[in-house]
Amino acid sequence: MTGGRVGERVVHRAGELSGVLRMPSDKSIGHRALMANAIASGQATVRLEAPGADLRSTIGCLQELGIRLDILESPTGLDINVTGSPEPPPGDRHLNCANSATSMRLLAGLATARHGSTVLDGDPSLRRRPMERVAVPLRAMGAQVTTSRAGTAPIRVAGGRQLRGIRHRLPVASAQLLAAVVFAALNADGETEIEAPSTVRDHTERLLAWMGARIRRVDSQTTVLEAPARLTARSIDVPGDPSSAAAWMVAAAIHPRARLRLVGVCLNPTRVAMVDLLREMGASIDFEPAQPGADGPEPVGDIVAHGGARLKPIQLGGARVAALIDELPLVGIAMAAADGTSELRDAGELRVKESDRIATMVAGLNAIGARVRELPDGWQVAPGSPRMAAIKTHGDHRTAIAFAIAALVGVAGEVRLDDAGCVAVSYPTFWDDVAVASTMAGAPV
Ligand code: S3P
Repeated sequence: MTGGRVGERVVHRAGELSGVLRMPSDKSIGHRALMANAIASGQATVRLEAPGADLRSTIGCLQELGIRLDILESPTGLDINVTGSPEPPPGDRHLNCANSATSMRLLAGLATARHGSTVLDGDPSLRRRPMERVAVPLRAMGAQVTTSRAGTAPIRVAGGRQLRGIRHRLPVASAQLLAAVVFAALNADGETEIEAPSTVRDHTERLLAWMGARIRRVDSQTTVLEAPARLTARSIDVPGDPSSAAAWMVAAAIHPRARLRLVGVCLNPTRVAMVDLLREMGASIDFEPAQPGADGPEPVGDIVAHGGARLKPIQLGGARVAALIDELPLVGIAMAAADGTSELRDAGELRVKESDRIATMVAGLNAIGARVRELPDGWQVAPGSPRMAAIKTHGDHRTAIAFAIAALVGVAGEVRLDDAGCVAVSYPTFWDDVAVASTMAGAPV
């Protein structure tokens, strides 16, 4: 199935894809659960299944901030007992967020309440990503925040000032920005209202309301928080990541001999746009919501995906794009398997992700033999003749996963990834799951 030099990996077509896979815990919810419990009253346990490197960055940063985390490591994940500090310990701190923009942006908001300065820095990829978009609203609330001359990391927050609530319209539909403002607004005087240009994931609102804050989505694009707000620590078993599950939904949609069950996945409606999209293209995917009773702020259940459909091309743009932001590399692979030319527009935000995902996807799609045209804010793709290809991932986990799936389902010939390890940013068990799904032919699903 796989081989190659250290760091590299060669992926071939699987004869069949079948089995039951448990996705790693969702990183969006995981970051928020760790941070919110870190500033809550009381103690709680955050359970993370196969946490990726980004979640480990947040764990490291919270420890650096002096938050007590007692970590029990098991073969499948981590149980992290968090002792909340509504007033985090004072002092100057330097936080390494590595590759994780969510850690950096959310912790910048959280750091506004600490006495002392907090410097947030990261790896070369994170240092290229725009950070003024988070600094601007925090300054408007009265915080003292600086970024580099290019508006990037390192971010310095001189915390401990009394902030005021704001009305803010996000410049881009970003749940990270929304959460950063909310974390800062928890301690501000007065209400904060945040409006997004289109609907973004609502994990922050669900979690903080569940922990006792007066926060709500007044409509699909507007969030209101009444502050100051006090959070009560609550234990949470962080459900599986729908963006990781999307890899297998796409694989099953394309591969003619596929039947996969993805268990314990977060089925929050703001995160499962990929299911609607693939159904629209003709794929067969079902939800099986878990029995009520599990305590938590998010709906959870299984996703069952079958192969064998012919996929129709699609035109994707507008407000739907924000809801699919992490899945768009996989959407590119599905487009390359459809019967005709598909188009993605309004996805300029992809250029400032872990890599320039428009450039990396267009180069990769071209290399595997698809007919592709780069657009300023997306791409046009039609199927071509699948061929062997060497893929440059640029260290981007979503690119690596997308082209591994392309090879597994035969949209590409054999694919050689230059950095197979980068999948661990969000999905450290990905290669294990590739082995399980490719070898469990005939297993009951
Ligand atoms: C995230 C929001 C998205 C997403 C990222 C996680 C979050 O980023 O790409 O993987 O947890 O809020 P943007 O807010 O920049 O779109």
